Amino acid sequence: MAPTPSKRIPVICYVLFVFYILVFVSCGGEEATAPYKPDEVILINCGEFSFTFDTGGRNWMPEAEKKILPSNSDYTSFTSDASSDKESWTPQVPYMNARIFRSDFTYSFPLSPGWKFIRLHFYPCYYYGYHGYGPDFDAVSSFFSVSLNGFTLLTNFSADLTVKASKGEPTLIKEFIVPVHQGLNLTFRPAKKSLAFVKGIEIVSMPDRFYSKGGFDNMVSEVGSTVDFKIENSTALETVYRLNVGGQMVGEVGDSGMFRRWLSDDDAFLNGGVTPYIDNVMINYSEKTPAYVAPAYVYATFRSMGNAKYPELNLNFNMTWLFTVDAGFNYLVRLHFCETLREVTKPNQRVFTIFIEHQIAKHEMDVIQLSGGSRIPVYLDFSIYVGSESGPRPDLRVDLYPLKDYSPSCYDVILNGVEILKLNNSDGNLAGPNLNPPLSSNLTPNRLKPQHMKGTSHVLVIIFIAVGSVLGLVTFIVVLMLSMRQRKRKNRKEKSVVMFKKLLNMYTYAELKKITKSFSYILGKGGFGTVYGGNLCNGRKVAVKVLKDLKGNGEDFINEVASMSQTSHVNIVSLLGFCFEGSKRAIVYEFLENGSLDQFISRNKSLARDVRTLYRIALGIARGLEYLHYGCKTRIVHFDIKPQNILIDGNLCPKVSDFGLAKLCEKRESVVSLINARGTIGYIAPEVFSRMYGRVSHKSDVYSYGMLILDMIGARNKEIVETIDPDASSTYFPDWIYKDLEDGEQTWVFGDEITKEEKETAKKMIVVGLWCIQPCPSDRPPMNKVVEMMEGSLDALEIPPKPSMHISAEVIPESPSLSDGEETG
Ligand SMILES: *[C@@H]1O[C@H](CO)[C@@H](O)[C@H](O)[C@H]1NC(C)=O
Ligand SMILES: *[C@@H]1O[C@H](CO)[C@@H](O)[C@H](O)[C@H]1NC(C)=O
Ligand SMILES: *[C@@H]1O[C@H](CO)[C@@H](O)[C@H](O)[C@H]1NC(C)=O
Ligand SMILES: *[C@@H]1O[C@H](CO)[C@@H](O)[C@H](O)[C@H]1NC(C)=O
Ligand SMILES: *[C@@H]1O[C@H](CO)[C@@H](O)[C@H](O)[C@H]1NC(C)=O
Ligand SMILES: *[C@@H]1O[C@H](CO)[C@@H](O)[C@H](O)[C@H]1NC(C)=O
Repeated sequence: MAPTPSKRIPVICYVLFVFYILVFVSCGGEEATAPYKPDEVILINCGEFSFTFDTGGRNWMPEAEKKILPSNSDYTSFTSDASSDKESWTPQVPYMNARIFRSDFTYSFPLSPGWKFIRLHFYPCYYYGYHGYGPDFDAVSSFFSVSLNGFTLLTNFSADLTVKASKGEPTLIKEFIVPVHQGLNLTFRPAKKSLAFVKGIEIVSMPDRFYSKGGFDNMVSEVGSTVDFKIENSTALETVYRLNVGGQMVGEVGDSGMFRRWLSDDDAFLNGGVTPYIDNVMINYSEKTPAYVAPAYVYATFRSMGNAKYPELNLNFNMTWLFTVDAGFNYLVRLHFCETLREVTKPNQRVFTIFIEHQIAKHEMDVIQLSGGSRIPVYLDFSIYVGSESGPRPDLRVDLYPLKDYSPSCYDVILNGVEILKLNNSDGNLAGPNLNPPLSSNLTPNRLKPQHMKGTSHVLVIIFIAVGSVLGLVTFIVVLMLSMRQRKRKNRKEKSVVMFKKLLNMYTYAELKKITKSFSYILGKGGFGTVYGGNLCNGRKVAVKVLKDLKGNGEDFINEVASMSQTSHVNIVSLLGFCFEGSKRAIVYEFLENGSLDQFISRNKSLARDVRTLYRIALGIARGLEYLHYGCKTRIVHFDIKPQNILIDGNLCPKVSDFGLAKLCEKRESVVSLINARGTIGYIAPEVFSRMYGRVSHKSDVYSYGMLILDMIGARNKEIVETIDPDASSTYFPDWIYKDLEDGEQTWVFGDEITKEEKETAKKMIVVGLWCIQPCPSDRPPMNKVVEMMEGSLDALEIPPKPSMHISAEVIPESPSLSDGEETG
């Protein structure tokens, strides 16, 4: 199964590579331009016998050259050549050869004192079903430990499992940062009945105490504590993440001289955000943040919330990154910031809070204030202990939240880069458990190759820009690639205009027209507009509500949709998308098979007479309302609970819909009933149309809910009621039912076929309903209490006072006002 390499990209890479080699040779290497020149760079291509260049032009030497092999190396190890699969795609130097260890094996490096990067390169080499090492070695069954000067770097480590668990990168680099006092002994120890191996060893020196002295302010702030954290020079670290936030991978040669690799943050980032692209940003490095801290590519790109038009929206969200780490270790979190937007140049414009693991790491982060100006980078170091409460591989969480205090001119956050480093624990251990590969770890060549190629070509593009190539053909290619990159960014920006918790689709009116086949199939008509059935292009059925009689502006609409998008509950209708085009506003919901509650009851007479079904529906609605009132960040009051706004899915699970719309639309149908008779009852609480009854609040929803369940029971019994007492339908229904409850003889309500249990359930619904419709809002139970009452036993319930007031249709004005005095928080 030889892969079919995509023709175009390799050719470009090859051209770039050849040109790079020319430039490299004539300029004497990229070190000439990198801001940092390490004193020591040792690149060992293990198991190889000659000098070799990697794709970045770095020269790797054989082990013998450095005289690091122990005297018994011929007995304790052998070499293997993985290059026999040259035909297919293989990574290049140093991954072609390996040294394979039979027993404990120590490389001894003489080194100058100071902190060093130690990078171990692995390539399990199982590609395309091919185990490249021949019959003597199989990386799949290789488990081993690695230690270094008393630190345990890896224990029972499997390169194979680690690569399979990662997202497609076939080669593996483990990077450690270790203090060296006098040389370095690196020991590989195979597990029982196993062999160990390594492909390349890289040692690079770094600026003095680069990761141990703290950020640009020379501090490591311990999250949740007031004292600073000290990283002694007896501690080793492992790099677990190094990300160019909002940008693409920056490879070894694009780094500032330490050959670090910066990956894109796409996998760690939780939601939305924008990654604006700004041309030709010159980063103005300073004494506190010298150019070697991070390359300009890292500081030039960033992620923000966006929403320039509706910045208040951002106050509803955190920008969140999740980093899966090993539990039981201290971590150093280094955050890189740089304001590059022309609009943000003064202090107090963009101020935000940094949370790490839900704790405030820095309350008021103002990049310009700290750095002293636009395009001047800063970086901050935090330390945090990650415990094992949430399992062996929990997520280390970083949240940024825009700060409202001191009225900054924009509610937004920014992050340019992240590095997360693990500190050894007190016994010198850095090793975590092996990663578990995802269940579907069928790494296919198709998934792997483009990712690797992307990285390689990007490195080369960086080199090109660095050497300022003017070569016609090459410039053309670079321009082409850059414009592709820019286009990708632009697309990404358009897709995430607004930060919603769930990703919502924004549809154009034309798209809605297509989805609904020109609005041909009407599902229902409600107070807020008409609902149409439709199909998305993937076949999913949806309900599209086109709003009418809108009040408020676009901002209100976007705000409302954003708050709706934050809800997620089994008894709340899921929002899928919206349309906001000129005066056209529409909301796209999931489609529910059984339609609205009134439709369901009229279509399914027998089911709707089943007390258990009614009870399940009533309880579900109560839970949905409880969630709206208590489960969301800001309380959502529905203001329009009625059968038309309760939808029923295929499993008879009720879902509350249309919340939030009362604020957006003018008209509401005030009097509707399941009992289509003279005794119509209103669902609207009395205080909504007359302030005499009290303040409008979430208790108004409780009233509507009470009416709704009484109505459900009543509708069930409509016929029975009318045969027994022809006058019944002219009486205010709650009066009727209350009188019956007082008399203690509700047998008529349920007929004869009902069991004792069902009777109790029905009686419970009636009692709860009557509590809910108390005229004085403070007498009504809150929704969480209602759920409790519905779930509890009938005996625990007191009989409510009689809801005395009569509401006749005449006193209800056409359009009750919801404007002032309305409580939503
Ligand atoms: C080593 O790791 C493998 C895979 O995670 C596991 O099955 C095995 O039990 C481990 N061995 C030891 C000695 O911990
Ligand atoms: C480590 O720190 C001690 C005390 O601060 C110092 O004497 C020693 O030189 C340091 N070693 C290195 C390698 O930096
Ligand atoms: C490395 O091992 C050699 C030989 O055992 C020993 O003499 C030397 O002190 C060790 N170096 C370190 C830094 O542990
Ligand atoms: C860089 O920043 C310094 C202040 O740190 C400022 O004086 C200088 O003018 C800036 N240089 C450029 C090119 O913007
Ligand atoms: C942001 O994150 C912090 C810490 O995790 C949390 O306390 C806060 O409630 C979050 N804010 C929002 C709006 O989600
Ligand atoms: C790391 O290990 C060394 C040696 O065992 C120890 O002295 C040091 O305190 C450890 N570092 C931390 C942060 O525990």
